[in-house]
Amino acid sequence: MTNPILKRAEDFMEARLLKKAGVYPFFRPMSSSEGAHVEFEGRELIMIGSNNYLGLTNDIRVKKAGHDAIERFGTGCTGSRFLNGNSVLHDQLEAELSTFLGKEDTLVFATGFMTNYAAIGTLVEEGDYILSDNENHASIIAGCKASLAQTIVYRHNDTTDLRAKLALLPPGAAKLIVTDAVFSMTGEIADLADIVQVKKQFPNTFLLIDDAHGLGVLGKEGRGTADSFGLAGEVDFICATFSKSFASLGGFIAGDATVIDYLRHKARAFMFSAALPPASAACALKVLELLQTDPQILQRLWKSVHRAREGYEALALSFVPSLTPILSIRVGDERKALLLVKELFANGIFATPVMYPAVPFGHALIRTSYMATHSKSDIDHVLSVLETLKKPFDLEANDLPHQLPQAHTYAFEEFQEAQNAN
Ligand SMILES: Cc1ncc(COP(=O)(O)O)c(C=O)c1O
Repeated sequence: MTNPILKRAEDFMEARLLKKAGVYPFFRPMSSSEGAHVEFEGRELIMIGSNNYLGLTNDIRVKKAGHDAIERFGTGCTGSRFLNGNSVLHDQLEAELSTFLGKEDTLVFATGFMTNYAAIGTLVEEGDYILSDNENHASIIAGCKASLAQTIVYRHNDTTDLRAKLALLPPGAAKLIVTDAVFSMTGEIADLADIVQVKKQFPNTFLLIDDAHGLGVLGKEGRGTADSFGLAGEVDFICATFSKSFASLGGFIAGDATVIDYLRHKARAFMFSAALPPASAACALKVLELLQTDPQILQRLWKSVHRAREGYEALALSFVPSLTPILSIRVGDERKALLLVKELFANGIFATPVMYPAVPFGHALIRTSYMATHSKSDIDHVLSVLETLKKPFDLEANDLPHQLPQAHTYAFEEFQEAQNAN
């Protein structure tokens, strides 16, 4: 009899079928990258499939910070922060993030995934409850599974459902509401104002947001989604990652000092895993500094995002309404999404498909995202290619006009004011 482990692997056909059909869109090995442009098989492509919103992975100031840290500390920590891998850079990063976010303390992890996994998995225990949005990131789901608490999934961004579900729970039990602040596949922003109101109606209830895609983008100086709503003080825990706007690697949770210190000494995935390399910490520290000293970075980002979104609207493309750099084009059929990605590739554009199980089957998207370092001609090229592909791929909006959600994004409004002033 075949070993069931082997049988499962043999039965997994999807990747092999996509490769055979010539539409496998994953693990594409780039031979170099300068952020907005990448090299692949000898061709230069415009990158509209990254999370490098500020385009700082190749910023000379950020790279120098990384180089300097390597000179000072070497390439790795080779041990857990708990025992033998901590550095002054890790401590400095935690202190500066706490100030930036207006929180008492912060704990830095080696990745954003690990942050959610370890923090959620440790904060709540048997007898507690997690209320989790049904479109939350995989790392949140992993954290929910790692904890012994009962996870109750509420309908996406639906505070009526959240309230109804909380009302059924024992008042004395601990409850943790967990949501992505910006949903990674669509760029939708969580309805934080309402979520905070709901939270306040129930005793022993904390709110944790994952601001992976809002940090460095939304809010004053990129302080994130909670700041953009003026609600940083009402959100108990802010998690995020350095692997997106922060042009590095790593993650963190910020919040109440006593709870953060508890995690520092209890979160096993943190304690028994090697520390974030000092160079990664140094790059994140530099981005934090740049956000507060170089306002042009955010202005450039919003200029790109506006140009792209106005272009999508002018082309009447069907895309998910979003106030973030993520503009996801609705395609629907999974095969069509794969073929469209291939066609974009052939036209010098690197974009990513979002398919089941990341979205419901038959609701495939092409996730596009715009960066501070995209030039006008980059965006114009993407728009001209999309114009030629919209009919053959049936990408035109056929429903109501795109309504932008009622969210407050400081950078967005500031940009509009600056535009009006000119
Ligand atoms: C919403 C969200 N949370 C967490 C993560 C994980 O972050 P990292 O890449 O740092 O592990 C991601 C990355 O894909 C994300 O999109």
